[in-house]
Amino acid sequence: MGSKQKLLDFIYDNVKGLEAESVLDAFSGSGCVGYLFKTMGKQVHTNDMLKSCYITSKATIENKREKLSQQDIDLVINNKTNNDGFISRTFKGLYFNDKENKFLDQAYANIQLLNGSNKKAIALAALSRACLKKRPRGIFTYTGMRYNDGRKDLKLSFTEHFIQSATIINNCVFDNGRDNKSFNKDIFSFTNNGYDLVYIDPPYYSKYSDNDYSRRYHFIEGLMTNWSHVKVNDNTKTKKIFKIRTPFDSLDTTYSAFDKLFETFKRSIIIVSYSSNSLPNQEEMVQMMKKHKRKVEVAEFNHKYSSGTQNGRVIHSKVKEYLFIGKN
Ligand SMILES: C[S@@+](CC[C@H](N)C(=O)[O-])C[C@H]1O[C@@H](n2cnc3c(N)ncnc32)[C@H](O)[C@@H]1O
Repeated sequence: MGSKQKLLDFIYDNVKGLEAESVLDAFSGSGCVGYLFKTMGKQVHTNDMLKSCYITSKATIENKREKLSQQDIDLVINNKTNNDGFISRTFKGLYFNDKENKFLDQAYANIQLLNGSNKKAIALAALSRACLKKRPRGIFTYTGMRYNDGRKDLKLSFTEHFIQSATIINNCVFDNGRDNKSFNKDIFSFTNNGYDLVYIDPPYYSKYSDNDYSRRYHFIEGLMTNWSHVKVNDNTKTKKIFKIRTPFDSLDTTYSAFDKLFETFKRSIIIVSYSSNSLPNQEEMVQMMKKHKRKVEVAEFNHKYSSGTQNGRVIHSKVKEYLFIGKN
């Protein structure tokens, strides 16, 4: 949700001329924008408050050379490490069948045997990608398989998905000659560490859809640590985790959150991704940035994308995507 993958050409066109060696992707999500900067030879730091996003960025951006070998992949798929069966017990009958839940319990335990945090990150990112692919609509806001449309991804086994995903992620790994780093923090705990450029793409506040990442992807988020950094809310049918709060959740706090970010990173070039369906609107955003930056340029792009779900159905919206580029 909210991935800028389809906008990478647009983003590239607008950043390629900027003088910046070091970049912070402050809300990295899928990591695709941070990865774009990595391919451009920048020194990249990424940050996201969700562990699942952090893990993907660590595997593909921070990681310079570690890949999963065939032996590592075999270990994740086939080893019989003792495990506590947490997924089998907690999510029985909710998202995957018993055999699949057992595979996930086993795979998570096996991943702990891999050598080093980068290999573990690739394997966890591959396992979470496998879960998203095996789930109709790729979300965990409903239980059962009622949106199963028979597509091929739903027919592949977890083993097949894991191998496919591990191969894709292995192929992303490269060294751009810089020391890149991924963080898993609340962005409001950052001070300005002298980044030349800070890319800001927070959850979009919109009247038309909710922007709650932890509700949609709670299963993936929990899976990253076998639910040790989050707590399942047992009173919910979906067994989702308690909401991970951010000021971008509500209209009351989103304006001051932007102001605080702009103040913190006022010495860097600031680029904000935002869409026409969202608040603050274009004019407000320019005004807020102008408080901290001498010059604010706006680049526009017409785009159609899935903006979320309503009653379990994917909603497609036509929006204008903006990049607000604030310079000193
Ligand atoms: C719109 S998405 C980013 C999408 C990303 N640019 C991409 O292309 O995939 C927003 C991200 O901000 C993260 N986030 C929200 N509030 C945050 C906070 N206070 N600190 C750090 N990350 C936060 C969410 O977890 C989510 O992954």
